[in-house]
Amino acid sequence: MHTYNFDEIIDRSGTNSVSFEGWRQSMFGSDKNATFPFDDSDYIRLWVADMDFATPPEVLDAIREHLDRKILGYTRIYDDSYFAVLSSWFRRRYEWAIQEEDLVISPGIVPALNRLVGLLTEPGENILIHTPAYAPFKHAGDYHGRQVFYSPLVQQEGYYTVDFEDMERQLADGAKNIKLFILCHPHNPTGRVWSEEELRKMGDLCRRHGIWIISDEIHCDLLRKGQQHIPLARLFPDNDRIITCTAPSKTFNLAGSPMSHLFIPHKAVRKEWLRLYAEVLSPLSIVATQTAYASCEDWLEQLKQYLDNNFAFLRTQLEAEVPKVQFYIPQSTYLAWVDISAYLEHRADKNNVAMDFARHGVLIEDGKMFVHNGEGHIRINIACPRAVLAEGIKRMVKALHNL
Ligand SMILES: Cc1ncc(COP(=O)(O)O)c(C=O)c1O
Repeated sequence: MHTYNFDEIIDRSGTNSVSFEGWRQSMFGSDKNATFPFDDSDYIRLWVADMDFATPPEVLDAIREHLDRKILGYTRIYDDSYFAVLSSWFRRRYEWAIQEEDLVISPGIVPALNRLVGLLTEPGENILIHTPAYAPFKHAGDYHGRQVFYSPLVQQEGYYTVDFEDMERQLADGAKNIKLFILCHPHNPTGRVWSEEELRKMGDLCRRHGIWIISDEIHCDLLRKGQQHIPLARLFPDNDRIITCTAPSKTFNLAGSPMSHLFIPHKAVRKEWLRLYAEVLSPLSIVATQTAYASCEDWLEQLKQYLDNNFAFLRTQLEAEVPKVQFYIPQSTYLAWVDISAYLEHRADKNNVAMDFARHGVLIEDGKMFVHNGEGHIRINIACPRAVLAEGIKRMVKALHNL
């Protein structure tokens, strides 16, 4: 078996990378030329959710091969082998039989959320999300003028669970008129992989109240050892009001090659999607996606092992250097959700600390970036070479001591 090198430090400068070049604007709303205490090249970037690891070499080779065909003309998927590869992935890994007729392609999950809110709800119909939340869930509602209500997840010693009574109360509340629940499964930022029991309860609740569900399963391939992802739709095969969003972008570091897969079993909604959004696709994205799902399972298993080790390293370092931090290794994702509230006791605003870390040369995301119920927490992206993470942790420790 080939051994992949996740320790390689790759220069991302000058590639229009959001992580490398876009942080001033995205994190701080600053001008791209704003000056910060560290030189641009000296920052450790542990923020936006892509990886500092090379995209699998098999994918890069397949793209090169396609370039040798010399034409990048109009492209759509006609070859049956594409669906066969996708179908095999979901069957093998999640015992889920996807249906070809349900599949639509979107340039990303964020654009898909923005589109689906418009397709699934009318003005005056509203949305429920769990919090803390991936902010585009909230923005998707905001863009359409829908109200987004929050059902806060409940935390006990870093383990987050759903408050089903609260969910039920809100879904049943006619004044709120909630018609859509956007589920993050596994959950960003807490990393929870929802169990079959939790999924059944959420699905039953929504069915009882006639609520659409968008289940964003973009993180489903990035699980810790011993965890198992259960696609929500697999548990409710006869409910055509569940839309599943999946993508190779997190799994194989392909976020810059926009291509995600949505499963929309509801005929009328799917028809409307196709009427509005059946775009031409990037031939390079098609090749990349198909190769990733067909040929990169070994790469993924080695990546997961590297991530497990990075999490263990992070935990050991935090315990030794900043023992008042509360951190539990998440069940999924490459994102650490860390409770630093013990270091914020003297601060009125416990949500707004990213700049304090930036002043120490490390970019992390803070509670305010996760909509609600994220106070006192930071999110650290650990998908980087160990040496980079080690330096990032050193800087975080300094920042925590100086908060
Ligand atoms: C839950 C979730 N959904 C969607 C995305 C982004 O999706 P895309 O890049 O396909 O728009 C992210 C990225 O962090 C995410 O965490």
